[in-house]
Amino acid sequence: MKEPLFLFDSVALPPERDRLVILDQTQLPGREKFLELRTKEEIYEAITSLRVRGAPAIGIAAAYGLCVAMLDYRGHTPEDFYRKAERIIFYLESARPTAVNPSVTLGRLRGVILDAISSGVESSSEILDLLFDEADVIKQEDIERCRKVSEYGLSLIKPDWGILTHCNAGHLAVSRLGTALGPLYLALERNYGLRIYADETRPLLQGARLTAYELSKAGADVTLICDNMAALVMAKGLVDAVLVGCDRIAANGDVANKVGTSALSIIAAHCHIPFYVLGPSSSVDTASPDGDSIPIEERDGEEITELWFRERMAPEGIKVFNPAFDITRAEMISAIITEDGIFRYPYNFK
Ligand code: MRU
Repeated sequence: MKEPLFLFDSVALPPERDRLVILDQTQLPGREKFLELRTKEEIYEAITSLRVRGAPAIGIAAAYGLCVAMLDYRGHTPEDFYRKAERIIFYLESARPTAVNPSVTLGRLRGVILDAISSGVESSSEILDLLFDEADVIKQEDIERCRKVSEYGLSLIKPDWGILTHCNAGHLAVSRLGTALGPLYLALERNYGLRIYADETRPLLQGARLTAYELSKAGADVTLICDNMAALVMAKGLVDAVLVGCDRIAANGDVANKVGTSALSIIAAHCHIPFYVLGPSSSVDTASPDGDSIPIEERDGEEITELWFRERMAPEGIKVFNPAFDITRAEMISAIITEDGIFRYPYNFK
């Protein structure tokens, strides 16, 4: 295995704890550019514009982002510190609605502040230290969860298989390693000789720009295809399993993931190919009973009509529908893999 990307994390807090450093994923694969974020507005912008993206990564960015944004309120009373934090939590949670991870991580930090206040901590600086410590724990947990998800995922794969993946659920989208791409990195280390097909993932091209980038940099055998080629590649017998990540898993096992995922599940079922969803247990949202209760982010139509083209390629004024995610129904999923194990339909995550 060549030196993988793990030389740097896509979201990091330097030892000074005064800023958040992210790898700007909008610049990849052409430029590996790091951004330093200090204000809540910068953090919000980085999340909405997908400079940092992938459900676990935006959860961690939101957590560190809250800590860094709260540096301004160290001299305030704990109660005032809490009120300011609540506003920033609400603001950062609204940056991207589909992934549950930011609400989970920000909810944990809210709990830290409330616990500190109710146990009589009188200094906001002390509360801030507790917040940073909790954000570090969240990131460390994500690293450990990804490693376990990857090991379980690898147990479902055989040497020489063809694997199809969609969007980017790799090192860039988490703290380290990945979810759907995690088993592929372990397979690379263990010389499985996998052939990986990466969907380009219209309209923002996470497959072409990010998955193809990180897998080829690590030395994997990866072939890029357009999204509308997936049926052909599967029908030709080139794919033995489909592996995708997730942004939110409802209580019944319906999964929100990058738009296009549900179509892959249908093609895979038609071709009798196993379809696996991989993610940390923190992506399971038992408060969402099924996929219909998950909010689906809609993005600017210009991402479809002009973003990647030298000239606008659709008529001016054309109506555009640009949902960023779709719902894959539980019964279409062969297994959901978290750090707690391999779950099969009917799902019960309690
Ligand atoms: O819009 P994005 O690029 O943030 O969408 C990301 C995905 O859909 C990923 O599959 C998901 O977040 C899992 S990342 C481990």
